[in-house]
Amino acid sequence: MHKIKTAVLISGRGSNMLAILKAAQDNEYPAVVEVVISNRPLAKGLEKAEDLGIKTLILDHKAYKSKSEFEKDLDEILKNLRIQLICCAGFMRILSPWFVNRWKGKLLNIHPSLLPKYKGLNTHKRAINSGDIIHGCSVHFINSELDSGKVILQKRIKILEDDTPQTLSERLLVKELEAYPQALKIVADELISSKKTI
Ligand code: GAR
Repeated sequence: MHKIKTAVLISGRGSNMLAILKAAQDNEYPAVVEVVISNRPLAKGLEKAEDLGIKTLILDHKAYKSKSEFEKDLDEILKNLRIQLICCAGFMRILSPWFVNRWKGKLLNIHPSLLPKYKGLNTHKRAINSGDIIHGCSVHFINSELDSGKVILQKRIKILEDDTPQTLSERLLVKELEAYPQALKIVADELISSKKTI
């Protein structure tokens, strides 16, 4: 079976990354994770990926003079590995229009809100403070505006009366871990079938 070569970019604990790696262990899953790249040397997710035998790389953005130099190296690594899709999974760097355009339609992200609501940070707190009764997460394509690209898939949960940002984020994470592998499958399947029709 032809599989789409995928890279996962992380900055932290890597739970979404792990959900993708586990889904990709299935023979029938249309994507294979070739590499996990972290911009933070101490990201907990790195160890989780290594435990599953996945290649990991650290690309410390602080070691670069500029965002463009960091992104040029990142781009070169991805191109050398013949990566076809990139999943940002808790990757807390805003990518420049240059990078986003180069990977247009190939760059996914998960965001902990029902976009277009609550772009940016502190989404759980903002949902509670607004008196929302429903919260959720979105897997979307990245475009050059923050958290504004086309949504691929969303999952919803109820906000409970005694929810805090912490409890809400914990309950939402369960849904995120379902959402990302499903969304990646949708995009990878589409990519495979578009190649078949060329
Ligand atoms: C996830 O909740 C993800 O939705 C969020 O960071 C967390 C990463 O956790 N992403 C953003 O806020 C992006 N703006 P993880 O590293 O355990 O997957």
